Amino acid sequence: MQDTISFVLDGKIQRLDFKGAYTPTTTVLNYLRAGLSHKGVKEGCAEGDCGACTVVIADLDGANKLRYQAWDSCLIFLPMIHGKQLITVENLKHKMNGIEALHPVQENMVNCNGSQCGYCTPGIVMSLFALYKTEARPTHASIEDALTGNLCRCTGYKPIIEAAAKACVHDGRDQFTDQEQDIIHLLLEIRADEKPVSVHTGAQSYFQPLTRTQALESRNKKQEAILISGASDIALRVTKRHEILSEIIDLSHVEEFKQFSTENNRMTFGAGMSLEDVRKHAKNLLPALYDALSVFGSRQIRSVATLGGNLGSASPIGDTLPVLMAYDASITLESVQGERTVNINNFILGYRKTDRKPHELITRVSIPKPRKQTLLKFYKVSKRKDLDISTVSAGFSLALDEDKVKSITLAYGGMAALTKRASAAEAFLTGKKWERRVVEQAMELIIQDFTPISDARSGAVFRSLAAKNLLLKFWSETAAAVSSPFSDSDGTG
Ligand SMILES: Cc1cc2nc3c(=O)[nH]c(=O)nc-3n(C[C@H](O)[C@H](O)[C@H](O)COP(=O)(O)OP(=O)(O)OC[C@H]3O[C@@H](n4cnc5c(N)ncnc54)[C@H](O)[C@@H]3O)c2cc1C
Ligand code: FES
Ligand code: FES
Repeated sequence: MQDTISFVLDGKIQRLDFKGAYTPTTTVLNYLRAGLSHKGVKEGCAEGDCGACTVVIADLDGANKLRYQAWDSCLIFLPMIHGKQLITVENLKHKMNGIEALHPVQENMVNCNGSQCGYCTPGIVMSLFALYKTEARPTHASIEDALTGNLCRCTGYKPIIEAAAKACVHDGRDQFTDQEQDIIHLLLEIRADEKPVSVHTGAQSYFQPLTRTQALESRNKKQEAILISGASDIALRVTKRHEILSEIIDLSHVEEFKQFSTENNRMTFGAGMSLEDVRKHAKNLLPALYDALSVFGSRQIRSVATLGGNLGSASPIGDTLPVLMAYDASITLESVQGERTVNINNFILGYRKTDRKPHELITRVSIPKPRKQTLLKFYKVSKRKDLDISTVSAGFSLALDEDKVKSITLAYGGMAALTKRASAAEAFLTGKKWERRVVEQAMELIIQDFTPISDARSGAVFRSLAAKNLLLKFWSETAAAVSSPFSDSDGTG
């Protein structure tokens, strides 16, 4: 065990113990702002919504190459950056031929008038820097996606998008390219010390296992400890509710929980995979899951938030749940005693309640490859398209036998205390013609299975209407398949 963490900042390894000002739940934002040399990073909301705190984290991938990602530093606990490089806006400054020079993203932000009051600018620059390092000549959609997590209240996004398009033409080459080998060596030096981080202060204990075995054993010993994977839910308890979390097991460094595989017509996602990685794998294989993750939070959130965390939260508005129900996914739960697999329909038991026992961890999610003729869709109704949580969400799947419904799944989020299927409507539709008249009758049955609430996001009446209309939308988008159910299209879009 080691009670210190190490990461690279300003080109050097920084070692940090928790004997002084910092606790294991001090956020990276507060750590940076407490010092003198990295005050460019700003706090806007402390809840992942504004992006003013964006930093870039460079981490080693499986091939020991650096991978750059934008993270919201307000939601990251310090031990989560152990073994990684932390890059802030100050690090973009460099000298070219002895003269101070701006990074191409900064230069283009200046040239395109991409900043006014400047409060959001360091965060925007860091999001664009991550884009610059990962995508040469990004599409307009990709630039917009990279900026989803950054709010600007005064400039307007047009000049910022223009700056991104003009900057990202150098195939990621910049002053960081020349230093990459040195940084890789430093990160490997930190990783060579393979002891897990274990910090005990008077008020808190924080354990960061590195292997599956360490994770399962620590869970067995500490069944009351708070589990974190990406901490995008749990960190809010610290930043918003100012709770002192006394015991934490941080699963973010267990590589075995981040593996993806395809075998026997099933795709298996490690519960510790970031949602951005899940999204990339889902793009061609599971388009409805890809669609769900494309409107999930922001890139900053998806880069840390995990599939296991979304399932573990079991929020009635968790976006992966309805779509995983439509895909008939299975959840693997592991403990020191072994593993068991539970179908997603039996996994969610109630409001934020799952079938997971205290000594178990969610370790994998497995999805059968959809049959060619199965039609799958995800829908999200929210107040705005980007970076918003669902008012109502839906994951639907439909298999037709000629013009009749062979099987149908209608799973809804936001309509009850838990994500749940519209069983009465499903039973009514099964065996009937997939036609508008029948679907309209089924729409009237949806409310039988739900008790939507009225809250700040919406009223119960709107939620019921939205749920019905999503079914009609699904019908209108799939009705064409009735005439050609086995057409060339794989129908999973
Ligand atoms: C700005 C912002 C935007 C968001 N947008 C969305 C959105 O669009 N849609 C949406 O659904 N959610 C959204 N969320 C919520 C959150 O990001 C997701 O629920 C996310 O998937 C949580 O994953 P995590 O790894 O960060 O979870 P954590 O915060 O690490 O954990 C969440 C819960 O799961 C448990 N847990 C974590 N890992 C495991 C495991 N392996 N086994 C058992 N239990 C585990 C934890 O104990 C905790 O109870 C948003 C959050 C923020 C801050
Ligand atoms: S301070 Fe707003 S996202 Fe971090
Ligand atoms: S420049 Fe003022 S908030 Fe963006």
